[in-house]
Amino acid sequence: MDASPELPRHLVPQSNLGMRSPQSPTRETGKHSENVRSLPLSGHVGFDSLPDQLVRRSIQQGFCFNILCIGETGIGKSTLINTLFNTNFEEHESTHFEPSVKLKAQTYDINESNVHLKLTVVNTVGFGDQINKEDSYMPIVDYIDTQFEAYLQEELKIKRLLYRYHDSRIHVCLYFIAPTGHSLKSLDLITMKKLDSKVNIIPVIAKADMISKSELHKFKIKLMSELVSNGVQIYQFPTYDETISKLNSSMNAQLPFAVVGSMEEIKIGNKMVKARMYPWGIVQVENESHCDFVKLREMLICTNMEDLRDQTHSRHYELYRRCKLEEMGFQDNMGPGEKPVSLQETYEAKRHEFFEEQQRKEEEMRQTFVQRVREKETVLKEAERELQNRFEQLKRLHQDERGNLEDKRKDLQEEVNEFNKRRAAAELLQAQGFGSVGNTSLKKDRKTFM
Ligand code: GTP
Ligand code: MG
Repeated sequence: MDASPELPRHLVPQSNLGMRSPQSPTRETGKHSENVRSLPLSGHVGFDSLPDQLVRRSIQQGFCFNILCIGETGIGKSTLINTLFNTNFEEHESTHFEPSVKLKAQTYDINESNVHLKLTVVNTVGFGDQINKEDSYMPIVDYIDTQFEAYLQEELKIKRLLYRYHDSRIHVCLYFIAPTGHSLKSLDLITMKKLDSKVNIIPVIAKADMISKSELHKFKIKLMSELVSNGVQIYQFPTYDETISKLNSSMNAQLPFAVVGSMEEIKIGNKMVKARMYPWGIVQVENESHCDFVKLREMLICTNMEDLRDQTHSRHYELYRRCKLEEMGFQDNMGPGEKPVSLQETYEAKRHEFFEEQQRKEEEMRQTFVQRVREKETVLKEAERELQNRFEQLKRLHQDERGNLEDKRKDLQEEVNEFNKRRAAAELLQAQGFGSVGNTSLKKDRKTFM
């Protein structure tokens, strides 16, 4: 829901799309400001109530905040979120046997002094449990991009409903580091590196009660130097606002926060406090000499929640949107003579380019088709010629054969005629009374022609 009360965006709603006319004055450039005169008012007008109007509207609309918790199974993610929001969000334990990393989002409506917060907690299930962890960061990157894409699609709609839209973009990523006292694991470094341009990362040392004070100090220094040397950009609490710049600067110097989570309450003095009890003592979650939980809560919820939301929109989403639109062919580049190219012109140019490309492809396909048909035609003609030759050859053979048979038939006919003549002669001789010798010879001849 970008119904969220972001002052600059409410005042300049067009800036969401970055589609304002290049000629119109902008807050960033202050163009035309030389034409604006400052005048004193002669009496009360009432627009000094604008901030109050905004506050009222914001309270009415409610707020939304989305947290991504990345950390190994059982590192204390759910306990910390419960402790931060002082609520028992029902969460089931994950197993260590997930074949891959999955993201599980759960949205809750919570209410504090009539301020409504739609809180989404996204957990990484199975993170760090696979033997091959090479691609563990991928589902997380995909999830973050999917939320950006959904927002971009809503923005690009003709009928946008951004005021009612449930903004699921991740505003902060709490990255849980195991309290090993050694150094960052390569999985942590790679994951944070892949995410730092997409989300505000706040690293936290989880279960900080499991590490001694001196070790913790060294561990923090080591972690920070590793993050810096590997070029991982973590979220810095903003220092542009004078009222909080001192606090935020000092907190920046104390990162990563070492936190302890617990929903268990015990009585200390006459107060109930959240704590973890051990045989050797008690760790109080909200005691700043025990851990940095209060600092994290203060920085994340009380002081910088709005900045986290704003950074998500103006930095991370803006980068996603820019890359995506550039991928689609849109550019803010200047045309000839330094004239800015409008979105309309870019669209027309792109359309023209697309049309030409289509035509080129169509022509290419046509040529290929003609070429193929020609090739096929040649092959078929060749086959036809071969068939014709073969037919002619067979015809000739057949004729020769027929001629031979005809010759043989003639020879046989002559022989039959000859035989008939001789038989007639023999019968004549027999009839005239010649002896049996002649008869025998006739029988022999008959056998030969049977
Ligand atoms: P999955 O969601 O199953 O991955 O676990 P998770 O990261 O949400 O951890 P969860 O909060 O369920 O805590 C796991 C165990 O760690 C529980 O027994 C908690 O009591 C314990 N635990 C949580 N926070 C702390 C802490 O700050 N210190 C210590 N020592 N234990 C903690
Ligand atoms: Mg959990």
